[in-house]
Amino acid sequence: MTVPIKILIVFGTRPEAIKCFPLVHALDADPHFDGRVCVSGQHREMLDQVLQIAGIVPHHDLDLMRPDQTLDSLSASLLTGIGRVLDSEKPDWVVVQGDTATAMAGALAAYYRKIPVAHVEAGLRSGNIHHPWPEEVNRKIIGSFASLHFAPTETAAAALRRENVDPAIIHTTGNTVIDALHWVTARIAQEPQLAAGLREIEQRFAGKRIVGMTSHRRENLGEGMEAIASAVRRLADRPDVAVIFPVHLNPNVRAVMNQRLAGLDNVALIEPLDYPHFARLLAISTLMLTDSGGVQEEAPALGKPVLVMRETSERPEGVEAGTAKLVGTDADRIVVETVRLLDDPAAYEAMARAHNPFGDGHSATRIVKLLAARLGRSSIAPKADVFEADGANDGA
Ligand code: UD1
Ligand code: UDP
Repeated sequence: MTVPIKILIVFGTRPEAIKCFPLVHALDADPHFDGRVCVSGQHREMLDQVLQIAGIVPHHDLDLMRPDQTLDSLSASLLTGIGRVLDSEKPDWVVVQGDTATAMAGALAAYYRKIPVAHVEAGLRSGNIHHPWPEEVNRKIIGSFASLHFAPTETAAAALRRENVDPAIIHTTGNTVIDALHWVTARIAQEPQLAAGLREIEQRFAGKRIVGMTSHRRENLGEGMEAIASAVRRLADRPDVAVIFPVHLNPNVRAVMNQRLAGLDNVALIEPLDYPHFARLLAISTLMLTDSGGVQEEAPALGKPVLVMRETSERPEGVEAGTAKLVGTDADRIVVETVRLLDDPAAYEAMARAHNPFGDGHSATRIVKLLAARLGRSSIAPKADVFEADGANDGA
């Protein structure tokens, strides 16, 4: 019998866990592979929320998170911690996702051991090394030596080709976040109790229009967060609007938001939601106000307008599809753009259309099939496993 290929998948934060759990499930279901999971614990509570709902018990948990961790101390402990796991596991391949410190250090530790790396969500580029910071550089580092690049979209694949990555090692697969969203939606349909925890807030805000909100970007800490908080205060003055804001556990985010927004009638500052409850928040929101990467990808799939509180985005597909708009971190601009969506039905309708520029819900199995083929365990028709967006660029 052929020995399965040992793949070590390394992740550590909430968004990586959400985007990796469909891959873990797909690897587990494929006999070509011995899928192993190493979590760095870069996040703790927010990572555990995802592991729990996805039913994943990691083979290794480095438990590295420290309160208010710095990028250099985090990166150093990630590199040595993941390195030790690689020495004990000796995987044939390492898979990392996205652009976090864990992804960058996991890839680098593999490279130091000459273990090939497959990069999922490869090729995202804003073109600005300070936005998002430090993620733009993290993914460029990984992209400079990965042996396989799973680009979510054709735009991302093209960015890699422009950087002279061999086109033969780039595959356009869609983003596994859409697989995760489909999976959690199906789970909620089977078990509505999984997302029933918002009922009290939903009752409190009955009849109001809900603005779902998240904010955590490191480059927005300080001035940007202050401006975001002041925009939310102004929006919450309106009697017909309520803001539901699960606040990221980063103490620098919490300090500002608690100080500026606690106790307002029309604002619910709540703890980070697990994924089923966040899916519920997306469903009940009129629009999303966010600086998150993942939320920019999920909202278009659900036809929810998303105002992105960033200066640039490495995910232009949502903007091109018309469901996302960049509004930066200027308080006036955030308020003006939000009010436009609330008060101008035509502006709202123009953005509130479901598109799937980021994925079709089959990205994880597509990636695993491609891995099997690339590693000589099966054959697939070269074109059979390419994600094609549904009208993302057709202006429809
Ligand atoms: C990290 C990622 C960012 C990603 C974000 C998703 C890097 C450099 N940044 O940023 O790309 O968008 O996660 O949320 O990798 N904390 C907790 N409990 C948790 C999680 C965080 O208490 O479960 C607190 C800790 O005090 C921690 C701090 O938040 O030190 C910052 O966490 P960290 O992972 O370093 O940075 P993020 O800003 O979360
Ligand atoms: N999310 C969640 N609970 C929350 C807020 C967000 O489950 O309270 C999910 C959201 O659906 C998305 C992901 O977390 O899939 C985004 O993570 P985050 O904003 O922390 O990081 P980013 O995507 O910006 O890297």
